[in-house]
Amino acid sequence: MLDFMIMSHFEIIGGKKLKGEIEVKGAKNAALKAIAAALLSKEKWTISNVPEIEDVSRILEMAEDLGAKVVRIKDRVEIQVEKIRKSNLNDKLAGKLRASIILAGPVLARTGKVSMPYPGGCVIGKRPIDLFLNGFQKLGASVHWANDHFTLSTKKLKGAKIFFPKVTVTGTEAMMITAVLAEGDTILENAALEPEIPALADFLNKCGARIEGAGTSRIKIKGVKKIGGGRMDLIPDRIETGTFAILGALCGGRVKIKNCSPSHVRALIVSLQQAGVAIEEKKNELLVSGAKKIKPVNITTHEFPGFATDLQPPFTLLMTQAHGISQIHDPIFEGRLLFTDILNSMGASIVLNDPHRATVNGPTKLRGRKIASPDLRAGITLLLAALIANGKTIIDNIYQIDRGYERIEERLQKLGAEIRRVEN
Ligand code: EPZ
Repeated sequence: MLDFMIMSHFEIIGGKKLKGEIEVKGAKNAALKAIAAALLSKEKWTISNVPEIEDVSRILEMAEDLGAKVVRIKDRVEIQVEKIRKSNLNDKLAGKLRASIILAGPVLARTGKVSMPYPGGCVIGKRPIDLFLNGFQKLGASVHWANDHFTLSTKKLKGAKIFFPKVTVTGTEAMMITAVLAEGDTILENAALEPEIPALADFLNKCGARIEGAGTSRIKIKGVKKIGGGRMDLIPDRIETGTFAILGALCGGRVKIKNCSPSHVRALIVSLQQAGVAIEEKKNELLVSGAKKIKPVNITTHEFPGFATDLQPPFTLLMTQAHGISQIHDPIFEGRLLFTDILNSMGASIVLNDPHRATVNGPTKLRGRKIASPDLRAGITLLLAALIANGKTIIDNIYQIDRGYERIEERLQKLGAEIRRVEN
């Protein structure tokens, strides 16, 4: 753990009714992939609506370490990589961030070689990378392992047909990005459909790439010799959008969520309406009013456009306030329900039936206490729990929250939340 990651904590006094407006920032997971894709080009990329969060800082540090010139002014990032000066990713940083694997493809494509540690991150970050390695091998790279590091090398990347046995978001993006500079055609089958993928493909095409079908399960990439620079405006963060909608349902007066794309959180909106939450939709806004009596709703997470696994933790919290029993099923990741024992320690009544299934019995009164955030999505859920709990909650390890939510305490204070950041 790098020292700056454990230096501060949040203090929250719960029970306040929140109301007002909250702005959604640019999508974290779109920003990380756009910054990686910029390494494909020798020309300058300007990316706007970039959230000022730790994961973006980490991946920009890795890009600079590889030779990128980076200028970051508030939510705008200018990045240019005239030459990639090394082929090994910074160990300390790459081992901390699961998404660091997205840098491997561009470095391989431009230098013929890349080596990095096993990509890390939070408790759910240490996930398998077999789909990435198989994809790189299909594109003509050889893979060598040595003490928890792998090295990919190739004389020339060649287009290939890649079928994903499991839908993988970053795997789809990694192969799409890498295939841009491969010789010949690449077909990705059973590709992920997340909205960040067509957004990235549209931008790459504006820079000279030739990608068709992004946003469907079959993506075709015609390799090109090089791509140019350009300007990209990131789509709103759908996980922030959904998290704030759940916040509105939990502690609300009326909360207006601005700069969002309601169509990117359709599955959540339907589940919230089933739970009795009033939601009004406008083009780039959601107006959520707290539900008088929250009804229990069963959910199963699924790749987009299904119920997003990243919204399961805050929705599970909401179900602790529902009048009745709800079943939560999250088949996508291991370890995504581990936070429920922390909610139980605050007064919730959740039974973990197996690593992917939980039964929530509500409503239960939550009590504030000292806790720590295990991962980014559980972290924000514990923050929401503290906002509805009686008394004071201290949340440690808030680096995990700062990884994905820009200045979250300032935005919540504007809604009337009693929360402050304490630097130890
Ligand atoms: C992306 O992770 C997001 N991260 C995750 O958000 C999100 O939860 C996830 O997609 C699902 O929506 C980024 O975009 C940086 P996957 P990703 O590959 O792409 C298995 C957050 O909080 N798998 O779609 O890494 C994997 O174990 C993060 O922002 C393999 O088996 O997820 C999982 O069970 C958390 N082998 C399933 O596929 C592989 O090589 C889906 O994972 C790759 C993945």
